[in-house]
Amino acid sequence: MPASSRSVFFATGNTGKVDEARMIMEPFAIRVKPFSGKGAEIQADIAEVASYSASTAARRYGRSLIVEDAGLFVEALDGFPGAFSSYVFETLGIRGLLTLLEQSESRNAYFRSAVAYCEPEGEPKVFEGKVSGTITRSPHGENGFGFDPVFLPSNAKKTMGELSLAEKCAISHRGEAMRKFAAWYLKR
Ligand code: IMP
Repeated sequence: MPASSRSVFFATGNTGKVDEARMIMEPFAIRVKPFSGKGAEIQADIAEVASYSASTAARRYGRSLIVEDAGLFVEALDGFPGAFSSYVFETLGIRGLLTLLEQSESRNAYFRSAVAYCEPEGEPKVFEGKVSGTITRSPHGENGFGFDPVFLPSNAKKTMGELSLAEKCAISHRGEAMRKFAAWYLKR
């Protein structure tokens, strides 16, 4: 890593997200520093959730940081669970999602990620990413987290749960959003 490398605080309690952020930002020489402080969490679209949380956390702790919010949007369920993905994963889980889709013809879905950066006295800036795919009929793989074992990205032969960290980050919603952030951050 060059001596001129920069760093950014990442406010999250999800170690899977930290591993991915480190992998994604490594080529930009941006060091990701996990930070356990929390901003206010509202129920809204993911971009708004990330943006509000980043802005309240940056002011509360007096430091510049990023917050990421993500969700799984299933076509046959009109975009559900979307912003409720975390709650649905903890309650219904993967099995519950598969049951909801048992009678559906379409298994199309996508993940979206919104990365919000905010400075203590600034306004939040949001970067978004998306990856499309389908929900498989059963879980495959133990890598990643959340719904990864049942998400088959378009043009991929393996679920996200079977992809390596590097393979997932190269095509994921989070990879796209964080690379957009990293490119912008380095030009500031
Ligand atoms: P949050 O951004 O922590 O609110 O994430 C919401 C939920 O969406 C997580 O608990 C996961 O269940 C799911 N999710 C978000 N990103 C991913 C991913 O990259 N892979 C699998 N599931 C994800």
